[in-house]
This record gives sequence, structure tokens and C-alpha cells, in this order.
Amino acid sequence: NGKQVEEAAEAWDAKQFGEAAEVLRNGGLVAFPTETVYGLGADARSTEAVERIFQAKGRPSDNPLIVHIADRAQLPALSGSISPLAERLMSRFWPGPLTLVLPAREGAVSPRVTAGLRTVAVRMPGHPAALRIIAAAGCPVAAPSANRSGRPSPTEAVHVRDDLDGLIDGVLDGGPAGVGLESTVVEPVGDRIHVLRPGGITAEELSELGEVVLDPSLLSGGEGVRDAEPSYEEGSAALEAPPSISGGANPAAAATPAEGPKSPGMKYRHYAPRGFMQLVQAPAGAEAERVAAAIQAELDAAAARGEKTGMLTYEEHASRYRADVVAVCGSLRHPETVAQQLYSALRRFDDEGASFILAEPLPAEGIGFAVMNRLSKAAGHRRLELALK
Ligand code: TXA
Ligand code: MG
Repeated sequence: NGKQVEEAAEAWDAKQFGEAAEVLRNGGLVAFPTETVYGLGADARSTEAVERIFQAKGRPSDNPLIVHIADRAQLPALSGSISPLAERLMSRFWPGPLTLVLPAREGAVSPRVTAGLRTVAVRMPGHPAALRIIAAAGCPVAAPSANRSGRPSPTEAVHVRDDLDGLIDGVLDGGPAGVGLESTVVEPVGDRIHVLRPGGITAEELSELGEVVLDPSLLSGGEGVRDAEPSYEEGSAALEAPPSISGGANPAAAATPAEGPKSPGMKYRHYAPRGFMQLVQAPAGAEAERVAAAIQAELDAAAARGEKTGMLTYEEHASRYRADVVAVCGSLRHPETVAQQLYSALRRFDDEGASFILAEPLPAEGIGFAVMNRLSKAAGHRRLELALK
């Protein structure tokens, strides 16, 4: 697959990259593929250019942008202080789906990029086309996901066009994005790795380099911090989400509740389909057949009320449900395929006008933790607790 991507990038006309880079240098906006999702790039040093990103996306201005680089040599200009842990994280995971929040060098990028914070988020994407366009532009490239604010992130060029046609200067089509979810955003603090947004690099992988601390907002129902989610029990099967990731990573939640998530973007309702979506939740140990029947009863009741129903499920369970839109989102046995297909599935509900949507959770382990984070946000943190008879 990596090889295929490489070849596709080679096949592109060098002219395309030259033109895209030229647009960026002139203060324009170009969408390009990365290994996570498509990004909407602009020269990070230019306030005018960055301003256009916020306008095109309809993005709140207090939500800072990630700065993308193609070469470690670009880093000293952005941050004057790289800790040993930050060094290790970069050597291990760059290029790749990890964003580091670092102390910002004043004046290195437009203040609109950092939204007034004293830190700057930096990432070196692991996609040949992204690296090539950033290198050709010769500047740090600010790039949020290339969707209208509030819509699912784009994993294909057509998603970008659907959202931003006419608002940006061009899209480089590199086929479907690989990971399908955004990068993991971390802040190295001493020898601890604070995870501000789960993503392409899992906590299990990070824990090999330091103690992983999850931002408290990631374990709560959204805004700020509250106690754990209601009624998660031991011995959970696919239909119940465990309270946090597991599998040897042993991450701790930061002890002190913050006023809100540390990554400003995490406080917004993101990735949301237009319909009313809920994550279903079954009692621990419930029989799969009864759970499926209870879900089907909810879908049928909604249909009887005149709703257009949607069900987000996985290959193994697809035959269980009847709904107007059944989005089969990868395989439970291969959660990375769920990550790849999640945003297209959410977009499909919009395309087909689903107004009442139920989603099955998956185990919040490995990449499943990031998937659950996005699903929960897409559902506005609403859960439908199934009453099994
Ligand atoms: O995979 C990705 O990261 C994609 C591709 C295009 O690279 N980009 C992306 O950007 O997801 P965006 O803008 O959609 O999300 C950036 C996230 C937001 O949650 C934002 O709040 C956070 O990074 N962020 C940016 N700068 C930050 C900072 N200085 N401190 C804390 N969080 C920051
Ligand atoms: Mg985004």
C-alpha cells in the first residue's frame, strides 16, 4: 500500500506540484492528501493566507492550526526548545500521524495559526505527496482537515470538493487517505506524554517512549471533565466500551480536572452527521441476539415515526439490521479498517438524508480508542441505553 501511494505520487505531473507550491507561496489555499485525512494548506507565516483557511472552513478563530513540515531542518525556526522526549517521539513516529505541541518561537508563524497560544502544534506527515508539496512550497504549511467546520474530515478528494469547491484554489487528488482519522496530538511534559487528541498513533505505541496521560476530557462526556462515563462494566464485549484504553499501555488520566480540553479543537462538536445520532449501549454480558433485537426495535419505532433511519455497524454484524441506510464500517476484527471507513460512513448518512442514526460502539483499544472518541463526538456524546427484556 505504501508502495502504491508512492507510485501514484511519482506518476503525478511534477507540474502539478510546482503549481500547487506556487499557489501556496502566493497566499492561496491548496488541499492535499496526507496519510491521515486531506489537509487544507496555506503558508503558515502569512496571516492573510491563514485567514482564508478560517473563512473557507467556517472555523472558529480560537481553534489553532497544525503546522506541517517536510524536513526536520524546518523545526528550529518554529520552536526553540525541543525536549529529549520530544526528540524521541519525532525520531520514532515522523514522518507519520503524530502532532507535537511545542513551545512556540515568537513570530515564526502567524499568530492566527496558534490562536494566541504560546505553543505551536507541528507535524511531519507520512505521505509522499504531502511531503513533496510542503518541500516545494519552501515554507511551513498550516493545514487543518479540508472540510467545512463541523463536517466529518475528508478522506477522499471528492469530500473536499463537496465541502469547499469554489472556496479554495485547488485539490491534489491522491486517492483515499490511509489512516482515515486525524493525527494523534500530544504534548510532551517532562517525561510524560499528554494525549490531547487520540488518533493515528495509539497510546499503546506511545507508551513505549514514556508514561501516557490522557487529557481528562477524553474520558468524560465532552466538555471539560466530569466523572467517568455512566455504566461501563467489566467483561465488556464489542457492544460496551471499556472506560479507557487497555492492552498494557496503562495510561493514566491527568489527576486534575481542567477547565476544558487542552486541545482547543476538542471542545467543538465535530464530525457530526446532520441527523440525530446516538451511540447504543448494552448492559454488560448481554446476549448479542437480544441486543440486536433491541436495536432493531428502536430503528423500527423511529421508522414508524417517519424518520429516515441509519445504522452504523461492522461487517460481522451487518446482516442483523434493517434500516434505510446501513453503513457497514469495516471489520471489528480489523479496527484499522473501521478507522479508514468511519468518515465516509458518516458522510453517507448526510448524502442519503438519514435523520435518526444509531451507531454500534467497538472496543476502545488501539486505534479503537480514537474511533470511539470520534463516534462519541459525532453522536454529540448521546448514548441510547438499551433496555433488554
Ligand atoms: O491528521 C491531522 O492532524 C490533519 C492533517 C491534515 O494533518 N490535520 C488536522 O488539523 O486534523 P485540524 O485543524 O483539523 O485539527 C488540529 C487539532 C485541533 O484539535 C487543535 O485544537 C489542535 O490540533 N491544536 C493545534 N494547535 C494546538 C496547540 N498549540 N495546542 C493544543 N492543541 C492544538
Ligand atoms: Mg479538523
